[in-house]
Amino acid sequence: MHRAIREVITARRQLEGGGFQVRRPLPSAGMRRVDPILLIDEMGPADYRPGEAVGAPDHPHRGFETVTYMLDGEFEHRDSAGHAGKLGPGDVQWMTAGRGVVHSELPSQRIMQAGGRVHGFQIWVNLPARLKMTAPRYQEVAATQIPEVVSDDGLARVRVIAGESLGVTARIDTHTPIVYQHWILQPGASVSQALPADHNGLAYVFQGAAEVAGTRLLDGQMGVLGDGNALSLSLPASAEGEAQLLLLGGVPLNESVVQHGPFVMNTRAEIEQAIKDYQMGRMGEIN
Ligand code: CO
Repeated sequence: MHRAIREVITARRQLEGGGFQVRRPLPSAGMRRVDPILLIDEMGPADYRPGEAVGAPDHPHRGFETVTYMLDGEFEHRDSAGHAGKLGPGDVQWMTAGRGVVHSELPSQRIMQAGGRVHGFQIWVNLPARLKMTAPRYQEVAATQIPEVVSDDGLARVRVIAGESLGVTARIDTHTPIVYQHWILQPGASVSQALPADHNGLAYVFQGAAEVAGTRLLDGQMGVLGDGNALSLSLPASAEGEAQLLLLGGVPLNESVVQHGPFVMNTRAEIEQAIKDYQMGRMGEIN
């Protein structure tokens, strides 16, 4: 049974703290989350001049995962669990904050000094209550290691960051079943993608306009999927250029969510504990 779109949300460009340009379709008015997906930030695209690029210096997280996917530019990551990495175009970083990390996410020295384009995504994936205090985990997958599949007619291409598509399975290991796919559609493309019936799902178009589950979504629009076990993705042959979108989903946790800034827990008391633990230095520091 094919899914339909049950709600369309239009993201607007806004400035995040520190002056970072984002489009944020989730959360938004009327859509607090698509369980277990908590947040989607499209970073840029922004063209920074020398000395202008901004990022997020040392800050904590607890109770969920941050997933960063770069399309353009470079980011450098350091965290209190001892992980460090540099992400370039097409690279993915899947960080399980679990019981707590402090990390910094900054444009690379090269971009800081010389300027350049930054474009990418950060999404937040919730963890179930039983895993909120799990040990932090860091997975980094280089662009060349992310499976990419092209449809038989050559008109649709998918990069499989998490889950399965067109018979290919992602390398990333997720704590609960998560789908994260980046689709690039050429005019005339038409594919059917399975999405198990027990998953919630959404599509976010960030270039061109695509037909998702029978609804036309424009650049910057997120469509939340209704019930079913598959969906159609297509781009009319008359389209002027390609369309790109993320398809995201997962099995809903169906648990209470209490969020306070960088902490996402199940109860108010757990949030207060997180704040206290951070203030006491129990989430560590970046060395
Ligand atoms: Co962060």
